[in-house]
Amino acid sequence: MAISKHSSHHHLFLLLLLIITPAVTSIGVNYGTLGDNLPPPATVARFLKSNTIIDRIRIFDFNPEVLKAFAGTGILVSVTVPNADIPSLTDPWNARRWVNANIKPFHPATKIHYICVGTEVLHWGPQNIVDHLLPAMRVLHAALVKAGIKDIKISTPHSLSILFSSNPPSNASFRPGWDVGNLAPILQFHRRTKSGFMVNPYTYYAYSPANESYCLFKPNAGLYDKATRKRYTNQFDQLMDAVYVSMKKLGYSDVEIIVAETGWPSGGDPQNTHANVGNAAAYDGGVMKKVSSGVGTPLMPGRRFETYIFSLFNENLKGPSLDEKNFGLFRPDFTPVFDIGIMRGSQVFL
Ligand SMILES: *[C@@H]1O[C@H](CO)[C@@H](O)[C@H](O)[C@H]1NC(C)=O
Ligand SMILES: *[C@@H]1O[C@H](CO)[C@@H](O)[C@H](O)[C@H]1NC(C)=O
Repeated sequence: MAISKHSSHHHLFLLLLLIITPAVTSIGVNYGTLGDNLPPPATVARFLKSNTIIDRIRIFDFNPEVLKAFAGTGILVSVTVPNADIPSLTDPWNARRWVNANIKPFHPATKIHYICVGTEVLHWGPQNIVDHLLPAMRVLHAALVKAGIKDIKISTPHSLSILFSSNPPSNASFRPGWDVGNLAPILQFHRRTKSGFMVNPYTYYAYSPANESYCLFKPNAGLYDKATRKRYTNQFDQLMDAVYVSMKKLGYSDVEIIVAETGWPSGGDPQNTHANVGNAAAYDGGVMKKVSSGVGTPLMPGRRFETYIFSLFNENLKGPSLDEKNFGLFRPDFTPVFDIGIMRGSQVFL
């Protein structure tokens, strides 16, 4: 009798916990602003805080209006140094001035989390910017230390063109020429400064009709990796493990991996019929589930990846393709394009 009473209280407690606990999920979004119909940053900050479970954003610049808008929200904000600004930041005096002008006025009221030095620099080049990438990361890090800021990290997001091969994942490696020359020293920097290696996996761009289910986290026969005896049932896992194996080959399997961008468009040019709402919901929902379940990947079981979905809004000034304009979770009026449990209170309790 006593036992059953105890256990029913226990159940009630669990039930209350489920009802009153906000989502345990931690999910980020890329907040791009290439639209002429987007709401002001202050409205966006309020919306994210009160209506969604999004707890971190990344912006593609260091727009003071956005930084001001997120002050006091507790939402982590990562900023980006445009690629063209990278060479000037290899100068310690310029880097210190940059930190004083663009970070110090906002931090820590705004929880600035990462400074992303450029975007996909190895992929886009030119060589002059590539050559200045790591020096700028080091000098900016030193400038933060000098300014007494200990809780902002430095990274740089990479496109998956850093991979020479990803199939099978056990045989993956970084591109020769970038591996030892560029990526190993960047990974060494991450190890030293305890920051994450950022990658932008887009299975959307690797889509083929034959592999639709594999791209979209739907049931499929998958890819069997003979060397590891692991079966891959989605391409996201395959790409993440390919990155992991490539890092391991250089001796850096301990460095954290961050998914800086990933997503799927809900609309596109007429020939891209796979850019549709159902597929975008399946992909972004699959990523959400992967990240919140903590299941990890075949070679990284139990690991959670800090993840930023691309993107927050549909952006009408992006292009040239319609696909590029339609990566958003939300329309500019805040209506969700689809529901993947990102609205507060809409989570499905599993
Ligand atoms: C592994 O990759 C190398 C190239 O890096 C290739 O020559 C070799 O055939 C691949 N092995 C398997 C089993 O795929
Ligand atoms: C589809 O995925 C399989 C593995 O499941 C892979 O061997 C094949 O190369 C992929 N096809 C295309 C066109 O990407």
